Amino acid sequence: MNIILLGPPGAGKGTQAQFLVEALGMVQLSTGDMLREAKDSGTEMGKLVADVMSRGDLVTDEIVIGLIKEKLDGEKGAGFIFDGFPRTLAQADALGKLLNDCDIKLDSVIEIQVDDKALIKRIAGRSTCGGCGQVYHDETKPWPSDGKCSSCGSADVKRRADDNEESLKQRLMEYYKKTSPLLGYYFAKGNLVSINGLLSMEEVRDSLKKVLS
Ligand code: AP5
Repeated sequence: MNIILLGPPGAGKGTQAQFLVEALGMVQLSTGDMLREAKDSGTEMGKLVADVMSRGDLVTDEIVIGLIKEKLDGEKGAGFIFDGFPRTLAQADALGKLLNDCDIKLDSVIEIQVDDKALIKRIAGRSTCGGCGQVYHDETKPWPSDGKCSSCGSADVKRRADDNEESLKQRLMEYYKKTSPLLGYYFAKGNLVSINGLLSMEEVRDSLKKVLS
């Protein structure tokens, strides 16, 4: 199975992608994670995108399409989860071409629906493990009381630089202006399935599993 997880910032794309990686051995391709990695390791591209990301704007199509192309050429597994890509119509067209060239079929585009108020709460409480990228939340999935990540044992708790009110407003604006048109695009192609992202993490995971089976 090859799927796209679509949804606004904080909808739970990364959380659900992690479930699918663990349960089904799928390969998560998160452009956000790839860009943060480039930023943290101080590459030229990372320096170029750092300000754009912290403002909450989108990075250029050229950069993210290049990142995905590189991964598609190298990765193998029980299917790809595109997490946070595509985010513009140009990226969606480019992904269609890349998949066609690699003879990969896109099975579903799954929209995780969450209202804006819940998104703000989710973003404000989010932390991530610096060791393995496991996503936590102060209320719904707190960091373990022994101070160590339940997945890898690291004690490195990270908060994202763009998880603040101002950047979030801009990220939401970018989503509604540039990414939400993809819902119509994939509906017209016959790929779109929407699930309720306001349920608990486990319930959302079960809805996803149903779609995949
Ligand atoms: P990116 O990293 O993709 O961020 P995003 O789309 O804003 O999404 P998030 O990672 O914030 O949220 P998520 O949906 O994964 O939610 P999560 O599972 O963490 O992109 C960052 C930046 O990179 C962009 O702003 C842009 O600059 C750039 N970029 C990336 N891709 C790009 C592209 N293709 N083109 C151009 N630029 C690009 O969950 C959030 C919180 O909620 C967590 O704490 C979690 O524990 C909690 N939670 C999750 N599910 C539930 C639930 N069901 N109930 C209660 N709590 C929950």
